[in-house]
Amino acid sequence: MNALRGETAVAASGAPHDVVLRAVGIRKQYGHVVAVRDSDFELRRGEILSVIGDNGAGKSSLIKVLSGDVIPDAGQIYLNGAEVAFKSPKDAQRAGIETVYQDLAMVPDLDIASNLYLGREKRFSGGLGSVLRMLDSRAMQKHAQQSLDDLGISTLQSITQRVETLSGGQRQTVAVARAAIFGTNVVIMDEPTAALGVRETKGVLDLIRSIRDAGRSVVLISHDIPSVYEISDHIHIHRLGRRIALRTPADQSMNDLVGVMTGALPAD
Ligand SMILES: Nc1ncnc2c1ncn2[C@@H]1O[C@H](COP(=O)(O)OP(=O)(O)O)[C@@H](O)[C@H]1O
Ligand SMILES: [Mg+2]
Repeated sequence: MNALRGETAVAASGAPHDVVLRAVGIRKQYGHVVAVRDSDFELRRGEILSVIGDNGAGKSSLIKVLSGDVIPDAGQIYLNGAEVAFKSPKDAQRAGIETVYQDLAMVPDLDIASNLYLGREKRFSGGLGSVLRMLDSRAMQKHAQQSLDDLGISTLQSITQRVETLSGGQRQTVAVARAAIFGTNVVIMDEPTAALGVRETKGVLDLIRSIRDAGRSVVLISHDIPSVYEISDHIHIHRLGRRIALRTPADQSMNDLVGVMTGALPAD
């Protein structure tokens, strides 16, 4: 998996060569509400980029545009330097962009391995798979276990355990692992630790680091500013529908970040 890291992207128009996902001038309006207003976005290869901002700032709407869930009214999106126009989440998934939404999209009475392959089941080759649609459960379980091991996930004891028997943190781990397995370019997470306790939050943050260290580029939307400050390579500050600043935590205090986010401090 480490092969992904350090791979050179094709230079985007004017953007640094290591930018994996870039958006320019994104706009999305719902009726009279302008959720995203001429916003830019930039994610570098192999980094953790956090997106912070007040409720209603337009963070989720922007992320939905990047994951193909919402079609923007204006603006361009570039993946590895080439312009893309996603019409659905499937389009973005085919391009290696996976998103973990807050509802997690799990089937509780299926086991971990089946949930990891939900909608992307492996079938037997030949007539068994193409005609009888038979699932190759053993292949899925083997690949699932290997993927969890690669990500250093030790909090899930057995991949044949049903998801309904897992704790909130373990379910979140399964959802994030699924995104990491298929999100070969970008893994996006909208508030992955919002419903978790302190210990479980730490587990998910460690997992996000492993995903980054395995060469994925991660977008993390979060209200947990101390965690964001600790874990991020860059921080995108969103306010009133647009990115008003892109900061490096090493270069400033957490108070300054919050000041810019709330409008108490100027963005530039
Ligand atoms: N599907 C929708 N229909 C109408 N308004 C929406 C919809 N989704 C978001 N909005 C509005 O767009 C604005 C931005 O919302 P959102 O992107 O969810 O912000 P955030 O994730 O930063 O809290 C809010 O005013 C919200 O009410
Ligand atoms: Mg949101």
